[in-house]
Amino acid sequence: MPTTNEYHSPSNTGLMRQLVKYLESQKAKGLSHVLLDEDARQALRNLANSSKSAPKSNPTTSKPPATATQNPQSLTKREAINAHAFGLTAISPTLPKSEQLAQLEQQVRAWPSGDFPQSLRKTMVFSSGNPESKLMLIGEAPGHEEEKALCPFVGPAGKKLDQIFEAMGLKRDETYATNIVKFRPATARQTTNNRKPNAEEVAAFIPVIREEIRIVAPQCIVALGATALEALLGTDSTVASERGRWHEFEGIPLRVTYHPSYLLQTGENLSIKRMLWEDMLAVMEKIGMEISTKQRGYFLPNS
Ligand code: URA
Repeated sequence: MPTTNEYHSPSNTGLMRQLVKYLESQKAKGLSHVLLDEDARQALRNLANSSKSAPKSNPTTSKPPATATQNPQSLTKREAINAHAFGLTAISPTLPKSEQLAQLEQQVRAWPSGDFPQSLRKTMVFSSGNPESKLMLIGEAPGHEEEKALCPFVGPAGKKLDQIFEAMGLKRDETYATNIVKFRPATARQTTNNRKPNAEEVAAFIPVIREEIRIVAPQCIVALGATALEALLGTDSTVASERGRWHEFEGIPLRVTYHPSYLLQTGENLSIKRMLWEDMLAVMEKIGMEISTKQRGYFLPNS
């Protein structure tokens, strides 16, 4: 578990900037409040104080930017993802999918601690559902509830996902759900609060998600939210601009849509709900599910 001091490095200036940018983007989307518990408030105070005391760089004397191995935190998420290559041992594609996944999980469990991003907690939450499913959903990282249950998507976002499956006429165990990062990102004095994975953490897991997709070989992938979008499509673009059309990940159709936790944050805004649902209707078509007229009309204004 990282100590509080690990969050006081000069690279926090960059984090502070990212945080301000993120909050401004939320404000631009109409969000007026952000809920912070006492731990999160204290972490922000620490971050602000460490940013103030960080040495200012002099443009005439400062060195060129560090490389990925020197300081992955100084890179954009996309640069770090491109720069990283984590070693995995080849898994025989002739084994049953469940056995291949068990081997992959075992390899990640056995990662040497020197290679493991130290900013992650140590309890692995790998995946859930049916490896033979046509449909693979990929989220961001486990949170407090998922870590307790050792299962992805069991907290509030997972319950929302279950309702989406129900509307589609699917059961959770007919799908395969996983996350880009398989461990809960740590924070100082963490209780129930969660955070998004950073660039280094996402980069470490790119080879794992690639291998997982190769093994499950679904007919269709759904990237839930910006972390999955960035990791799978290699873009810093937004969910708003990439959703609503088909992409591909190594030949497999991929749909980007809003993360269920974003839907919850917006107070289940009807237009976000409808856009998410339209993505799911497209997914249903792609995997050959029948769609009723009633289903097509869900979440329309005045429906
Ligand atoms: N959010 C995610 O992206 N994944 C989970 O497993 C839970 C919440």
